[in-house]
Amino acid sequence: MTDHSSRLPGFAQASRAERLGILADRLGGNAEALSLLDQPGPIDPGLVDRLIENAIGVMPVPLGLATNMIVDGDEMLVPMATEESSVIAAVCNSAKRCRDTGGFHTSYAGSLTIAQVQLCGLSDPRNARAQILGREDEIRAICDETDPQLTELGGGLREIEVRLVPARSGTMVVVHLVVDTLDAMGANAVNTMAERVAPVLAEWTGARPLLRILSNLADRRLTRARAVWPAEQIGGPEVVEAMLLGAELAEADPYRAATHNKGIMNGVSAVVLATGNDTRAIEAGAHAFAAQSGQYGPLTHWECTAAGDLAGTIELPLSLGIVGGATRVHPVAQLCLKILGADSAERLSRITAAVGLAQNFGALRALATDGIQKGHMALHAQNVAITAGATGDEIEQVAATLRTHGRVSEAEARKALAALRQG
Ligand code: MEV
Repeated sequence: MTDHSSRLPGFAQASRAERLGILADRLGGNAEALSLLDQPGPIDPGLVDRLIENAIGVMPVPLGLATNMIVDGDEMLVPMATEESSVIAAVCNSAKRCRDTGGFHTSYAGSLTIAQVQLCGLSDPRNARAQILGREDEIRAICDETDPQLTELGGGLREIEVRLVPARSGTMVVVHLVVDTLDAMGANAVNTMAERVAPVLAEWTGARPLLRILSNLADRRLTRARAVWPAEQIGGPEVVEAMLLGAELAEADPYRAATHNKGIMNGVSAVVLATGNDTRAIEAGAHAFAAQSGQYGPLTHWECTAAGDLAGTIELPLSLGIVGGATRVHPVAQLCLKILGADSAERLSRITAAVGLAQNFGALRALATDGIQKGHMALHAQNVAITAGATGDEIEQVAATLRTHGRVSEAEARKALAALRQG
């Protein structure tokens, strides 16, 4: 492909079949390789074409169910979309170990979404700030008019904040529209409001309006979950102590905190993806929130209760929606919401936070005891067997050999496969 230009005039306007033809030519006329993209799946190719530009197919990600979860007293099955082995097993296992203490208890700060309007070139930023704050009612009227349906449903502008942000070129005025977007993630609603409000702010203040976009640091949409794991469900007081020490490292060291939070997001992003929500928005928000104190830190906190049990809490921003965007039109996302029984963004957020906490418990426990590789490689062995060429029944037989010898590598899998085929 390297000797062809990446300019493909007309590609966007072509039908999906034509796009596949163009791509096949680029692959040296190998249309066969692309038949993979043409297999029937749960999502209509026409829909793919409407969701993104230049669509050629779908990239399927495994979808599984986390069992054993109890969230705010409700038993539930949680759909998770992930390509990583061990992720769902860890949630199932962690959730099972805190069932005796009632599972996960959550709280939700609300569905307030922030949109930013950047105002530049002001010689009197404080004066501009005071001017804008005095005209909140007029700003609310513009926002209400922009999205009357949201206002009718009880959402809309809740407050404005005007921040003075010292930047290299001088002080910038940044106006935050704080909007209750109810059951929507809200990006479209608040971005439109910001675009409508910006020229009016410019007229009032003489500023040059520039960026008008939501903030993914959604700290008005914080969701929390907590759970207590009885010491005897974890492996005793030594394991509780080891897990606490492991968690402490994430508080003290950003190098560990990044990995600690990555593990949390293994669970969070899998629920976000399964429900057709925006994984990047959630990831950006979570990591920005984790750094809000000035030092990047963990999204969870762990303590020993007076009874010697392990109590965990998680707090993170979750801009999730159950209406609008891909969630509304993607049939698998709709099905996942149905399985979850999530009839509001609030419910979805609470469940997602609980999964993040469960995931972190599982990783910490594994790391503080056997290490992560034992469980991970046990599952991963099958993938390695497939990579080495095993098919059908051979996959589990080769994987079993790898597990028995404790060496999970492609070279070992090839050897095991050759031995198996030789009989
Ligand atoms: C791997 O995907 C996630 C972990 O690294 C998380 C952690 O270290 O806490 C196991």
